[in-house]
This record gives sequence, C-alpha cells and structure tokens, in this order.
Amino acid sequence: MNKTELVKNLKTDYLGKPLIYTDCVDSTNNEVKRLAKKGCPQGTTVIAERQTSGKGRFGRVWKSPVGTGLWFSFLLRPEADFSKISGITLAAGLGVCRAVRNFMGLDAKIKWPNDVIINNKKICGILTEAAAEADKIKYAVVGIGINVNNRNFPDEIKEKATSLTIENGNIPVDRTEFFKEVLFYTEKCIDCYLENHIIPEDYKVLCATLGRNITVIRGKNVLKGIAEDISESGDLIVTDENRNKVLVNSGEVTVQGIY
Ligand code: BTN
Repeated sequence: MNKTELVKNLKTDYLGKPLIYTDCVDSTNNEVKRLAKKGCPQGTTVIAERQTSGKGRFGRVWKSPVGTGLWFSFLLRPEADFSKISGITLAAGLGVCRAVRNFMGLDAKIKWPNDVIINNKKICGILTEAAAEADKIKYAVVGIGINVNNRNFPDEIKEKATSLTIENGNIPVDRTEFFKEVLFYTEKCIDCYLENHIIPEDYKVLCATLGRNITVIRGKNVLKGIAEDISESGDLIVTDENRNKVLVNSGEVTVQGIY
C-alpha cells in the first residue's frame, strides 16, 4: 500500500483525515493514543503494514503479519457520555460488516459485540480504548484488524479465523480500495449511532449471535442462556437457564455453532 493511493478519492468527512501510513509500529492504537494526547484532531487515522505489539481484547496478542491484513486505528472526539463507548464499537463493527458485504459480496455477519465473521469464522476484531473526563468521552481510539489476504493462521487460531481472500476463492483483495470502503461505512454507522443514540436496526439483522445458545464468562461467573435481543445501547439481552432476563455488556462470549 502507499499513502497517495490510500487517500485518493476517500469518501469520508473526517475518518482518514489526516492519514498516517507507516511500515511498522508497536500498535496503531498506541500510536493514535500518543497523537491524541498531543491534541490531534478527530478522524486522525494510523495504518501500519505491520505491528510488533498488536493488541486484542482481554489482553490478548493480535498477530499482525506484514502485507496481509489491514491494521489501523482512528481517533474520535465525540461530545458524548462515556456510556456511548460500547455502542460506538458496535457501530464500527457494523460498518466493517457492511463494507465486506457491499465491496466483496460475501455473507458477513457480526458476532456480538464486534467480531465480523464469515462462515462462522472471524475476519475482523475491534479494540476500542477511551479516555474519560468526568462522565464524558475525552477521546476514543477505535482499532480495527481485518484479515484480508492471509493464507494461513497460527495453530492457536486456525480453527476460528479466516480471511477475505480465503472466503473469496483465493482471489487476492485490493487492500487499498477495501480500506477506503471500510472507513466510509464505519463513519456512516458511527455518525448514525451518535445522532440517534440507538444501534442501527440492521445490526440485529446481521448479528449471528441472536437466537443462539451462548455462554458468557464474566470473571469467575459463567452465564448460560439464549441471546434474545440487543438493547438500544448495545447490551446483549440474554434469557438465562432460570428464564430471567440478564443484560450483558462485557465478557467473553462463546456462541454455539460459532466459537
Ligand atoms: C480483538 O478481536 O481481540 C480485537 C483485535 C483488534 C486488533 C486491531 S489491529 C489494529 C489495532 N491495533 C491494535 O493493537 N489492535 C487493533
């Protein structure tokens, strides 16, 4: 990829403006956080060919090999309560899902809260890190990792990970053009959420978790039940084994038939 092509005909209002393209960084989330602390504007985006310390959720490592995926993060400075953070992350996941569907014609779905999956395997993960000021968002860094042209995965994840090219009959995908589509749809979904204070309706249509048996691990507690619905703020509404309705807003979720 190169910077000139990455910014050419970008259809966004603010995402990718400015765009910082780098060969190698510890983590694009870390880099955007450093820039945020120096006062850089909303929309600032860092994309790297390779990360040496890519981070996943729950303190996991996110492997980011050179030249295969899209590893990038952007800065938001919304005027919003801190409680909107999880909704912003869900909206970003919906944006990636829409981009995959529209650009690639693949049947992408969402595993709540924000993994994007194809054929029940993960192609995208999102890690949002935010700073608060009183109960408001000071800034939010949304980090997105998408497996695009990866042909194989490390043993630990090969059962549950896939890439766009694998799902597309091994035809290589133009990362530059796809990146611009992702920024476009992601910005649209985030704006829609922040304007209407409700997760866009098609999130539920595309959410593969709904209607399935799930297990949620929250610290030492394990909750088993059926994922029934998504609340306005993006919580998962679960009917547990005693038929009680439980709201889940964090935790690691295993979905029967997915992962
Ligand atoms: C997950 O599913 O666990 C979230 C993975 C998020 C990975 C992306 S890659 C770009 C950005 N930089 C990071 O260090 N992490 C995110």
